[in-house]
Amino acid sequence: MTQIEKRMPKKLLFAANWKMNKLVGETPEFVQRLTGLLADIPEKLGSEYQVVIGAPATHLTLLIKSLKDSSLEASAQNSGVAKFGAYTGEISPAMLKDIGCGWTIVGHSERRHFFKEDDLLVLSRTKAALEEGLKVILCVGEVLQERNSGKTTRVIENQLSILKQNQIDPSLFENLVIAYEPVWAIGTGETATPAQAQEVHHHIRSWCAKNLSDQASSIRILYGGSVKPENSQQILSQPDVDGLLVGGASLDPVVFANLVKNGLKSRTTKKEL
Ligand code: PGA
Repeated sequence: MTQIEKRMPKKLLFAANWKMNKLVGETPEFVQRLTGLLADIPEKLGSEYQVVIGAPATHLTLLIKSLKDSSLEASAQNSGVAKFGAYTGEISPAMLKDIGCGWTIVGHSERRHFFKEDDLLVLSRTKAALEEGLKVILCVGEVLQERNSGKTTRVIENQLSILKQNQIDPSLFENLVIAYEPVWAIGTGETATPAQAQEVHHHIRSWCAKNLSDQASSIRILYGGSVKPENSQQILSQPDVDGLLVGGASLDPVVFANLVKNGLKSRTTKKEL
């Protein structure tokens, strides 16, 4: 067994990605219902998982206020490349930090494909956010045509190669999370099989071990793409899947809570949930 295979299990990360959904006023009730539903998770499993909610920028202040007495955290869905300046429409990592937001998502496939964000821009966003002390969920993933033509690992390696350009201080990797989101599985109802997810996650972990510093061993790798309560346990049972990035199934607190609870069954042998 290699060192990679023997690694200690990491705290599972369940990251909700609301995308451009919900109105600000819906936020407190969502939080109240979700935290209520998660409250019956046995305390001893509390240290096994973490929940982060990625909301539109307009919702973040109220979301953070609503999460104040819980262990859940808030995330932005993108963040800028500089602290301040002439970047119309952007929100800087410093501004997110200022309102108490500790997380951001960068390089989501919708940013890459609809808004033409390329690897260099994604690197700049990643670097700026990490240097400001934010935790970053960096998304990578192939489109169907790339998978069908056997290019999945090459595409992922290209997207990750930005990390090895020595531009990011290795000590900041402890705040980095990578999300593998096959583009063909996002919002389509078609999920990668657990084996397909495991194969790519293992490849990402090996790539990080080979190409980044030792500090990269702390990087968690999430799977995203049509995750639901029905498949969260199976996907999380794969040894290299450290969490889930969830779009559609994160919009309803009952569905998302069930997804978290089922996912946690991958960490417990007894009927604790
Ligand atoms: P989905 O979205 O769960 O609706 O497929 C995942 C994502 O885009 O992060």
